[in-house]
Amino acid sequence: MIKYIGSKRALIPWIGGGIRAIGESDAELSRRPHAEIRILEPFAGSCRVGYEMKRQGFFVIAGDYLSFSYILARTFIEADRRDYPPERIWPILQRLQALPGEEDWFVQRYACEARYFQPANAQKIAAIRKAIPTEAKGDSLLEAILLTSLLLAADKVDSTTGLQMAYLKEWAPRSYNPLTLEYPSLLPGKGLAYVGDALEKAHTFAADIAYLDPPYNQHSYAGNYHVWETLVRYDNPPVYGVAVKRADVRKLRSPFNSKKEAPRALHRLLQALQARYVVLSFSDEGYFTPEELLQLCNQRGPTLVLERTHKRYIGAQIGIYNPRGERVGQVSHTQNREFLYVIAPDGHAYQGLQAALQQKALSPSGGQAKLF
Ligand SMILES: C[S@@+](CC[C@H](N)C(=O)[O-])C[C@H]1O[C@@H](n2cnc3c(N)ncnc32)[C@H](O)[C@@H]1O
Repeated sequence: MIKYIGSKRALIPWIGGGIRAIGESDAELSRRPHAEIRILEPFAGSCRVGYEMKRQGFFVIAGDYLSFSYILARTFIEADRRDYPPERIWPILQRLQALPGEEDWFVQRYACEARYFQPANAQKIAAIRKAIPTEAKGDSLLEAILLTSLLLAADKVDSTTGLQMAYLKEWAPRSYNPLTLEYPSLLPGKGLAYVGDALEKAHTFAADIAYLDPPYNQHSYAGNYHVWETLVRYDNPPVYGVAVKRADVRKLRSPFNSKKEAPRALHRLLQALQARYVVLSFSDEGYFTPEELLQLCNQRGPTLVLERTHKRYIGAQIGIYNPRGERVGQVSHTQNREFLYVIAPDGHAYQGLQAALQQKALSPSGGQAKLF
């Protein structure tokens, strides 16, 4: 999986525990096999959470408004490993890996003008990226799997702190490693991926449980991961600034990145979702206070809140850098509070869920989980 700010990697056992508790406590859901319980994830990002839910056998519907996240969702959520097993994909990866590097606009921009990759790796990326459609022969899922392999390989040799608002002034040690394609760990089973705005798509997919993890501050994912967006689109976009960001990231604004617009957007989304339960991830670093968020959730249904402390993303431990990759500040804290808000459909379901959550204690890896 790619490095992703706000990724729920370390919190997955906790979130998964919450979602399983819903499945077990709800009278109707508990009678169904996991494969018949639909989980909608409209802010899928790196797809880590959906991947874990699919691993547990649930039917996952994963979406995001960024194209590279859609590629990841097609690979990790939609594709069935039984159709694309390693023995089918490896020979293609070996052919792609053997291609000689090529010079093009991507190399010029991301290895010369800016320094996200060492030139040899950027040349290899360019050659592989251009050969992928030919290898996929019109199979769009296969194309997504090959692109994912390339994304994961590029993510291992980039020269950033994990965010693409800057590249490092000195090459990161990992950037010297040769780009190496690997088989992305596909899961067996079915799922669905889509690309689109969460608010526009809210009516489209009916689910039993919706898991929401929207951004809660001004930092735009479109700007922070513009290189991945360009790598999957390969559209040679106009760019601006030292970080050579895509010019269209300015238009790809999300209401969830605006302090003014976020409450209304979240309210609209919570009202529009076609799901019996809604689970909302939230940390205390964003626009809302825990109380404000609880108020919003209660407008949809009775809400349980779980809380634990969490180590902040790795960038926070490394420091703060300006667009030239120079260290410009220290981070104020390395821990934050993480919350899970679980909105039940009615009081009866709420009580059943409360009992199930208390029984589970939901406190993996020593984190103190509190139930309000
Ligand atoms: C906090 S991240 C999700 C992280 C994810 N849970 C993970 O573990 O990788 C928020 C995601 O919401 C997406 N996003 C932001 N605004 C959106 C919108 N209006 N519609 C759909 N996706 C949006 C961003 O692209 C980003 O991937």
